[in-house]
Amino acid sequence: MAEYDLVIRGGTVATAADVVRSDVGVAGGRVVALGERLAGGGSREIDATGRLVLPGGVDSHCHIEQPPVGGVDNADTFASATASAAAGGTTTVICFSSQTKGGAVTEELRDYHRKAKRSLIDYGFHLIITDPSDAVLAELPPLIEEGHRSLKIFMTYDSSVLNDAEVLRVLAVARKHGAFVTVHAENHEAIRFLTEALVAAGLTAPKYHAWAKPMPVEREAVHRVIAFAELLDVPIQIFHVSGAEAAEEIHRAQRRGLKVFGETCPQYLVLTADDLDRPGFEGAKFLCSPAPRTAADQEALWGYIRTGVLGVVSSDHAPYRYDDPRGKKVRGEGAPFSVVPNGVPGLATRLPVLFSEGVGKGRIDLSTFVAATATNPAKLFGLHPRKGTIAVGADADIAIWDPEKRVTITNAMLHHRVDYTIYEGMEVRGWPVATLSRGEVVVEDGAIRAEPGRGRFLPRGPYEYIRPLNRFVTPFNPVDRTVVDG
Ligand code: URP
Ligand code: ZN
Ligand code: ZN
Repeated sequence: MAEYDLVIRGGTVATAADVVRSDVGVAGGRVVALGERLAGGGSREIDATGRLVLPGGVDSHCHIEQPPVGGVDNADTFASATASAAAGGTTTVICFSSQTKGGAVTEELRDYHRKAKRSLIDYGFHLIITDPSDAVLAELPPLIEEGHRSLKIFMTYDSSVLNDAEVLRVLAVARKHGAFVTVHAENHEAIRFLTEALVAAGLTAPKYHAWAKPMPVEREAVHRVIAFAELLDVPIQIFHVSGAEAAEEIHRAQRRGLKVFGETCPQYLVLTADDLDRPGFEGAKFLCSPAPRTAADQEALWGYIRTGVLGVVSSDHAPYRYDDPRGKKVRGEGAPFSVVPNGVPGLATRLPVLFSEGVGKGRIDLSTFVAATATNPAKLFGLHPRKGTIAVGADADIAIWDPEKRVTITNAMLHHRVDYTIYEGMEVRGWPVATLSRGEVVVEDGAIRAEPGRGRFLPRGPYEYIRPLNRFVTPFNPVDRTVVDG
């Protein structure tokens, strides 16, 4: 009888710590043995000679099947989005159960759980809080306890913006009940002022999105929310950092010992504001928030990934179709930038683009790639060591890569339901040739080999990263309303 369900033989296993030649033995959906030339056979054996054997990616920021807002649909279902993620080497997604202003978090969460049952790979949820009334905040402790250990707040967008008092209220609940807060940081009032001025001046093409959201609106909001997190002594992660100045704010906070973490996305490493200035309305495809910036910002972001200041690279997959009255053209072709849905798709392309642009071009090493795309998000969101690494006892979530494979990206190969990719025609070197979720091959040579519905919900925490520092700026703990010192 075979000793293992599966043995992956002869590959180079890379983790956030090491790159070694090793076989991987899998039984019961987990890694049970690592070593050179493992004795004992597998019911199935995969020859990974010349291949990289990497932990499956953990995409901790992706918008999947959220309810429509303002007549705009999330085009992907859980089935299509997770197939797309897996095709690009990702084996875990953390997406968003969103509260509509005035709605109940619990009810919308139950509905989201129902939709997510069609997932191909394992998943967790962040809870978006758009309306932190007393009643809504009172809903949170049991939901956090159930394993929804992260909250998401927005400092802009009419449909979801929180004012400063509301941000503080959410941070306080997170600290008290052991949740981690993720933040979309941009200054809403400044954006509104600039947008009104641009529209009044007749400057409404997609390229003016970047003029309405220049770096100071991001830098200021990042600075402000870090100050709030410091006041309440609660760990946070800043989402989708777009350039040098916002990253510098995070770096400064980290140097002062604060638990402030940063994330960026491939679009900020590849696009610049010039991409919004395509002929006609094409620029709308590239319109996301924060706005893409400059080549100098891209180089700065690579540096911050290298040094770990930006420890996570996620997709921020936002599946709005382009040529669709329920997508980017919801207000018609040529509508002002201010009414174009924000966001770009990117679940399948996240890892290949980062691998090719990062590892392939010598900007980051392989272990940094694994750390930023799998290990760090798994740690930050309470999934490690079950997810995000290849180690004995971990789930056998593995992507086998051909590091030399040249692929010209086309939308048709991405398995999502969006009608475009921002990477159309881009050649990358390195592609996952097989993706395994808990030991089962779910994607092989670009074809989906498993049925949706096999993915499992991942309840999370409590865990190390969400533990506060117990360090306040005065002797007063404003969350628990106690004097802690003096
Ligand atoms: O433009 C973006 N990033 N759209 C997705 C939603 C968000 O802000 O994260
Ligand atoms: Zn955002
Ligand atoms: Zn997002």
